[in-house]
Amino acid sequence: MSETLIDEDIRKARTLPSRFYTEPEQFNRLKSVFSGWQFAAHRSELEAHTIQPLEHIEAINGESMVLVQGDETRCMSNVCTHRGMRLALEACTKKSLQCRYHGRTFNLDGSFRHMAEFEQAVDFPSEDDNLPQFPLKQWMGLFFTAQSESMDLPWDMLEQRLGFLKPESFTHDASRDRDHSVDANWLLYVDNFLEGFHIPYVHPELNQALDYSGYITETFDGGVMQIGKAMKGDVKFDLPAGHPDEGQDIAAYYLWLFPNMMFNFYPWGLSLNIIIPVSHNTCRVLYRGYVSDAELASQGAGSVLDTVEDQDQWVIEEVQKGMASSVYDRGRYSPTKEQGVHHFHRMLSQFIDE
Ligand code: FES
Ligand SMILES: [Fe+2]
Repeated sequence: MSETLIDEDIRKARTLPSRFYTEPEQFNRLKSVFSGWQFAAHRSELEAHTIQPLEHIEAINGESMVLVQGDETRCMSNVCTHRGMRLALEACTKKSLQCRYHGRTFNLDGSFRHMAEFEQAVDFPSEDDNLPQFPLKQWMGLFFTAQSESMDLPWDMLEQRLGFLKPESFTHDASRDRDHSVDANWLLYVDNFLEGFHIPYVHPELNQALDYSGYITETFDGGVMQIGKAMKGDVKFDLPAGHPDEGQDIAAYYLWLFPNMMFNFYPWGLSLNIIIPVSHNTCRVLYRGYVSDAELASQGAGSVLDTVEDQDQWVIEEVQKGMASSVYDRGRYSPTKEQGVHHFHRMLSQFIDE
């Protein structure tokens, strides 16, 4: 796909053609977008389990990885260097990694420790018997890893905006975890997330909690930030002096990082959505909740999450059916309300040559 498939000028551009939502070949073509940064875990999860297989990343891009807290935190291959068995099959607090196939053991830094019946093997153990390591980035208590370091993200700029919330002090609340299967291409989930245009039509309850007229969309390299304004008297962030948004009544920061991660910050904490691409017409949505103040969770824009999720899934499953039409191919963007969707499609268009 040439870059001009999605015109740089939103006023002229047409949306992504329907084949990207309906054809298995196009779905496979876009898989390479998942080799960059992916959310691994919040530090509170590592306090509970020093060894964490990252099953969601394996589902996203096929790479079996394990996050390990030893003398430092590392992300390494979760594949045994003997004959390829997956090593950690569940989260645990063991002091070494032992393969359940033939018993090879590894230290928590990934180095080979021991294996029986290898005394006669020549040049053994070697570097190749250690577990390969992946890049690891900690950002405000959130760990990210990647198969290969590609696009960097503006971590500092985002921290200036969100750091006052101290996400590193949040704790994982498993009662908020969800795993939804959706009959829609993952792109539709992201498209829908990236605009608040549909809120008055699809989310009547959320529309009561947000001041729709003040909704803001900001695009940047690697993502999109949307800012939902609170209704008068409703729960909002307590912004510190000197904050870039000082003086505004903000109910939620909705941050999307390319290609499939959504960090929804509310006064009660963080609701994280990770989209797993399953096939050209199905995806999974994982929810993770990280809480700072549970008492605020029943108020404002962050209180109606399950209802909003059902409404979003309903609408994108209907759009998926619409994409199969022989007479619909693509539409146009609202220049004032769909900057986020346009930005996403522009980013995608840079990944594929056509
Ligand atoms: S595959 Fe791990 S010990 Fe054989
Ligand atoms: Fe929505």
